[in-house]
Amino acid sequence: MTDIAGSTVLVTGANGGLGTEFVHQALTLGADRVYAAARTPKDWPDERVTPLRLDVNDADSIAAAADTASDTTILVNNAGILRHGELLTGAIEDIAAQLTTNLFGPLLMTRAFARHLVPAKGAVVNVASVLSWLPLGKGYSVSKAALWSATNGLRLELAPHGVQVVGAYLAYTDTPMTAGRESAGMNAPADVVDAIYQGLRDGASEVLADEITRSVRAGLSQPIA
Ligand SMILES: NC(=O)c1ccc[n+]([C@@H]2O[C@H](COP(=O)([O-])OP(=O)(O)OC[C@H]3O[C@@H](n4cnc5c(N)ncnc54)[C@H](OP(=O)(O)O)[C@@H]3O)[C@@H](O)[C@H]2O)c1
Repeated sequence: MTDIAGSTVLVTGANGGLGTEFVHQALTLGADRVYAAARTPKDWPDERVTPLRLDVNDADSIAAAADTASDTTILVNNAGILRHGELLTGAIEDIAAQLTTNLFGPLLMTRAFARHLVPAKGAVVNVASVLSWLPLGKGYSVSKAALWSATNGLRLELAPHGVQVVGAYLAYTDTPMTAGRESAGMNAPADVVDAIYQGLRDGASEVLADEITRSVRAGLSQPIA
């Protein structure tokens, strides 16, 4: 169980749809400080927010962020990208880019911040997807499936040190990532982030943020067809 009140939260991809909510709700829940990490940091109208320059694809940028934000107790690996294209015929660079950002980004961030999170008995949140369990997203699904596995592996290594590792899974959510899609029926970012922070406070290992995700997760025991 991880309290948000009194914590120091670092959110990657803080300028995005879910990232903005992670920042706002951490403040509402009483975080002492929030590092709003982004490739292009912006000003935030709350003095508890510290903008931080961070590209999760850049090892030097990650190392600098870990030196600066050494008081981080909750790391929210939220930054992610979506590229379209078939596994057989799509640009291999797009598949690689999704693995770089969506898998290696959270993995490298967690490795860099573990030295702060372990003594704090803090927490890591990895934002994956219902597409971790459905191949419809092609290269995106590959990257989020890998993140699912990495999240579970990191939990095995960090839980003995008192660090909570939460995998967050969600279906379509109304953010810039899904721009152009019909937004009716999509999750609201505020509801998703509320569920994730609730899971963090409850000591959860996984947060299944909506009914579609709960249904797909429950179906994993069924034959693959
Ligand atoms: N929206 C959905 O339907 C949905 C569903 C399931 C899971 N998710 C996951 O939720 C997370 C948040 O996505 P979102 O929906 O809020 O999309 P979003 O609004 O597009 O936000 C994604 C953020 O990630 C940042 N980012 C991308 N590459 C980065 C890098 N190399 N270094 C640092 N930041 C980087 C982007 O920064 P810039 O502003 O610099 O581009 C952007 O702010 C992602 O991991 C996504 O895969 C979303």
